[in-house]
Amino acid sequence: MLSFSFLPSFLLGPCLALAQSATSTPASQASSATSFAPQFTVPSEADEGATLLPNINDEDAPNAQDRCPGYTASDVKTSATGLTAQLSLAGPACNVYGTDIENLVLTVEYQTDSRLHVNIQPAEITPQNESWYILSTDYVPAGSQEDGQMTTSDLTFSWDHSEESGFGFNVTRNSTGDVLFSTTGTKLVYENQFIEIVTQQDEGYNLYGLGEVIHGLRLGNNLTRTLYAADVGDPIDENLYGSHPFYLQTKYFKRGDDNTITLVTDEVDSDEVSGNYTSTTHGVYFRSAHAMEVLLRSNNVTWRTLGGSIDLYFFSGPTQPQVTQQYQQVIGLPALQSYWGFGFHQCRWGYQNWSVTEDVVDTYRKFGIPLETIWNDIDYMNQYRDFENDQVRFGYDEGADFLNRLHDNGMHYIPIVDSAIYAPNPENASDAYPTFDNGRDSNSLLLNPDGSIYYGAVWPGYTVFADFLENSTHTWWKNEIVAYYQKIPVDGIWIDMSEVSSFCVGSCGTGNLTLNPVHPPFKLPGEPGNVLYEYPEGFNLTNATEAAAASSSSQSQADASSTTASSSAAATSSSSTSYLRTTPTPGVRNVNHPPYVINHVQGDLAVHAVSPNATHVNGILEYDIHNLYGHQILQSTYAALAAAMPDKRPFVIGRSTFPGSGTVAGHWGGDNASKFYYMYFSIPQALSFSLFGIPLVGVDTCGFNGQSSEELCNRWMQLSAFFPFYRNHNTLSANSQEAYVWASVIDAAKTAMDVRFQLLPYLYTLFYNAHTNGETVMRALAWEFPHDPSLAAADRQFFLGPSILVTPVLTQGATSVDGVFPGLFEGMEVYYDWYNKSAIAAPATKNTTIDAPLGHIPVYIRGGAILATQGMALTTRDARQGAWSVIVAPDVDGQAVGNLYLDDGESVAPNATKSVTLTSFGSGLLSVTVDGAYDGLDLPLANVTFLGVREKPADLAVKINGVVVGESVFDEKSGTLSVTGLEGALGGKVWGGSWNLSL
Ligand SMILES: *[C@@H]1O[C@H](CO)[C@@H](O)[C@H](O)[C@H]1NC(C)=O
Repeated sequence: MLSFSFLPSFLLGPCLALAQSATSTPASQASSATSFAPQFTVPSEADEGATLLPNINDEDAPNAQDRCPGYTASDVKTSATGLTAQLSLAGPACNVYGTDIENLVLTVEYQTDSRLHVNIQPAEITPQNESWYILSTDYVPAGSQEDGQMTTSDLTFSWDHSEESGFGFNVTRNSTGDVLFSTTGTKLVYENQFIEIVTQQDEGYNLYGLGEVIHGLRLGNNLTRTLYAADVGDPIDENLYGSHPFYLQTKYFKRGDDNTITLVTDEVDSDEVSGNYTSTTHGVYFRSAHAMEVLLRSNNVTWRTLGGSIDLYFFSGPTQPQVTQQYQQVIGLPALQSYWGFGFHQCRWGYQNWSVTEDVVDTYRKFGIPLETIWNDIDYMNQYRDFENDQVRFGYDEGADFLNRLHDNGMHYIPIVDSAIYAPNPENASDAYPTFDNGRDSNSLLLNPDGSIYYGAVWPGYTVFADFLENSTHTWWKNEIVAYYQKIPVDGIWIDMSEVSSFCVGSCGTGNLTLNPVHPPFKLPGEPGNVLYEYPEGFNLTNATEAAAASSSSQSQADASSTTASSSAAATSSSSTSYLRTTPTPGVRNVNHPPYVINHVQGDLAVHAVSPNATHVNGILEYDIHNLYGHQILQSTYAALAAAMPDKRPFVIGRSTFPGSGTVAGHWGGDNASKFYYMYFSIPQALSFSLFGIPLVGVDTCGFNGQSSEELCNRWMQLSAFFPFYRNHNTLSANSQEAYVWASVIDAAKTAMDVRFQLLPYLYTLFYNAHTNGETVMRALAWEFPHDPSLAAADRQFFLGPSILVTPVLTQGATSVDGVFPGLFEGMEVYYDWYNKSAIAAPATKNTTIDAPLGHIPVYIRGGAILATQGMALTTRDARQGAWSVIVAPDVDGQAVGNLYLDDGESVAPNATKSVTLTSFGSGLLSVTVDGAYDGLDLPLANVTFLGVREKPADLAVKINGVVVGESVFDEKSGTLSVTGLEGALGGKVWGGSWNLSL
C-alpha cells in the first residue's frame, strides 16, 4: 500500500498517461464521487517539520568523545551469575546532547553458555518525563539467567580503566580467544537524551543486519544505520519501516603454512582456495525501542540512542545458524505458519469492487495459474475506515458469497487493515463510526500531553491511533476484528501504515474534525494532475523523441533514489539554510526536537508519523517507544484473529516490525518500485529478515510503484517463487501486472510455481523447524559456507533451506547469469540442475556463467538432500491430495538425508503429526522411517528418482521391503535412475509405516 512517496517527482508527474490508467481512473473516481462530498485537502505544509541538520552531516557538532568525561567503576560485586558495579561520572558533566546522568549501575549476567547480558542504566529512576524511560519487559522480552548458577560460558566480560577515558569493557569468546566487542579506550556517554558507546573494530569487518534498510546484505564500513520506524517508499540506505537493533558479525581467518591464524581484513578473491580459511560468527542485540543510530566506520562501530538504557545481549555463535537460534531464544521463535500461506498471493491497490476482484481470481483459473489468496487494498473500505466495507462496491452479503466460492475452491482472502482509525465529523450524525466510539469510550487512544485525544491524518481524513500499551485496546481491537469476521470471514490480515504513519506534524486534526472526511495532503496515483508518466524499464519505443524522454526520466529516477545520501549531504554544506538546533535543558527533555539530530529520512521526527510527544494513556511518550508501534499492532492482530478463528493459526503480514515480530507475523518489503534493482534488493532485504527471526518474508513481486514490464515481471515472478512469502502487488493506476497479463509471464510463473509446489513439503518442514528450534529458512551463501570468505557479501544468489540454490537473473536484457556453486570448485559439493536432474560439472573457475534465457530461473539441488515432493495444483489444498515423489540427491560421498514434517497444515495444536526421516547411503538405496500418527497425507508414492548415478545398475529390479515393484529406467546422460509405477506399493500409503527400497 502506498506510503508518502519519498521523492514525489520520482513517480508522480505530468503527461504521458498510459492507456490503462486513462481508462481505469475515471471509473474509480466516478464511483467515489457518488459517496463523497467535495473534500477539504490537508495542506501539504501540515506535514512539514523544522529544518534540521543531521548530526552526522554537521561539521560543527560537538563530538561527545572529546567533550565528555566517561565513567569510573566502583563497588564491584561478583555473584553466582555475573557481577554488578557502580559507575560514576569521571569529571564535570559535558551535557552535549542531554543531561549527563551522575550514577549508573552496571549489571553483567552470564545467562546461558552462549549468551551474555550487559545492562547499564541510571542508578535512580526519576519520573520519566524529566529524564528517561527504561523499556519494560511487559512489551519486549528480556533474556533471563536460566538457573541462578554461574554457567560455564563461552563468553567473558572484562573491564578496566584507562587513564584517559575511564571505564571500558570487552566481551571475549573463550573458545577462540576472540575479542568480540570492546569499548576499551573509549568514553561511555550517558545522558537523558543521548547515549553513546564506541566499539573498536578491525579493518574490513563484516556486519549484517541492523535493519530495516534497502542495502546489500553486508553493511560495509561506511554507513550510518538510523533506526527509527518510517513510512517511506523504500529509499536506499535510509531508515525504513522496521527497527532491528541486531547485528551478525563474521570474522574470517586464514591458516598459514605454519598453522598460524591471521584475521582476514581484505576481500578474498573467489578463486582462492577456501580450504585455507575458517570463520567465526557472533551476534549483538541492543534491546531498545528508542530512536537509534549505528555508525559503521572503518575502525569502529558507534551506537547512539536517544534515551533508555544500554541493554546488550551477546551471542557467541560461533556460526550464523547458532547465533540466529541464540537470538531467537531471547526475542521468541517464529510463529507456526499455515500451509496455505505458502501458496501464491495476488494483490493490488485498485481492485475497485468485488466483481473486479473476483475477475482476477477467475482469470488466474482460466489460464491455469495457481492462485491461493486474493487480497484487497484500501479500495474495499467505506471511505478508508477500518472494519467497514463500502456497501456499494464491497457489500457484505456479496462479499460473504464471494468468500464462500473462494473457500470452496480452496482459496483464501486477505484484506488490508490500516493502523489509523477515522475520527468522525461531530457535526454530521451520518458520519458516525462505531469503531472510533469504542476506542474512545474504552480509553484506548493515543493522547496529547494535555490528555486530549491526539488527532493525526491518514487515508480517511483526521484520525486517531490505538494505544497498544493498554489492555483495553487489545480487547477493543479483538472485538472489532471478531465482529468484522462475522461479516467477512477473512483468512488473515495485512497490517499497514504502522510506523505509525500520520500525514501531518502533531495533532493536526485538533479543532478540525468538522472538516472530516478530508483528503490527504498529496494526490493519489491517477488523480487529476498526478498521472503515472514513466515507461517500464527497457521499454522498446519506436518514437525516438519519446524514447529519449523516457530514458532520461528513468535515469533521473535511478539517480534520485541512489544518491539520496549524498544529496542530503550536499544540502548540509549550503550555508544559507538555517537549521533548528536545540540545547539541553537540565532535567527536561525536548522530545520533539532532541539536541542530537538523527539522520532520519523524513527529517523532523514528527514528519509523516505520530509525533514524539504523543502520550500513551499510561504516560509513556511515543518518543520512548516509537519503534514498537508496528510490533504491538501485529501482536494484537494475531490475538484477535486467534479469537475469531480459535483453532486456526493466524496469518498476519505487517509493515513495521521489531525484534519478536516473527512470533506473530511475516513481513513484506514495503513500497518498492518496478525496477530491476529493487528485484535485486529483495534478496538482501529478505535474508536480513532471516537474521531478525522473521522468516515469512517476501516483496511486492513485479514491483509496487511505477510500471512493470513483461521482462521484469517474468524474472520477478520466478524469483519470488523461492521466497517464503510470494505475493504480486501493484499500486493504484499503474498498468496491470498480474501473472496472466503477458503470455511469457504465464509460462514463466507456471514453470517456477511448479518447482515451488514440489518444494512446499520441504518449505513447510523448514518453517516447522524455524518454529520449533529457530532454524534459518532463507540462507545467504556465506552462512552455508562459512569457510569461504569470497562469499562474505554474496547476495545475488541464495539458498532456500540447506538444499536449494537459486541463481536468478537480476539485470535487464540478460540471457545468462554469473554465479557460483559454493564448494563445487573445491570438490567438496555436488549440485544437480533442478530441471534435468543432472550433476553440474566442476567449473574451471569458481564464478561461472549460467545460461538463463527469459523464462528460466536456474535452481539447483545441493547434494546430500532427499526431497519428498508433491506436484503442482491450482491451490495448496489440491496439491496436498496428490501422490508423492522422492528425489535422492547424494553428496560427494554418496550420502543423502531428508526430513519431512506433516500435519493438517492449519491447527494451532494439531492432534496428530508425523515426522519422516529419509536416508540414503549409496545409490539405489533408500530407507524411510516414520514417527507419529497423522495420516492425512498417507497417499500413494508415484516415483523415486536417484540422481548422480554414474553406472547402470546390474539389476534394475527395484524392491520395496523386499517385494519387486514398479519400473526402473537408467538415463546415462543425466545420471538418473527413475523408479516409477509405485502407486500400488505400500498399500498406497507412502508414510503409513517405515520402509526401504533396494535394488
Ligand atoms: C580489551 O581488548 C583489547 C584488544 O582489543 C585489549 O587491548 C584490552 O587490554 C582488553 N581489555 C580488557 C579489560 O580485557
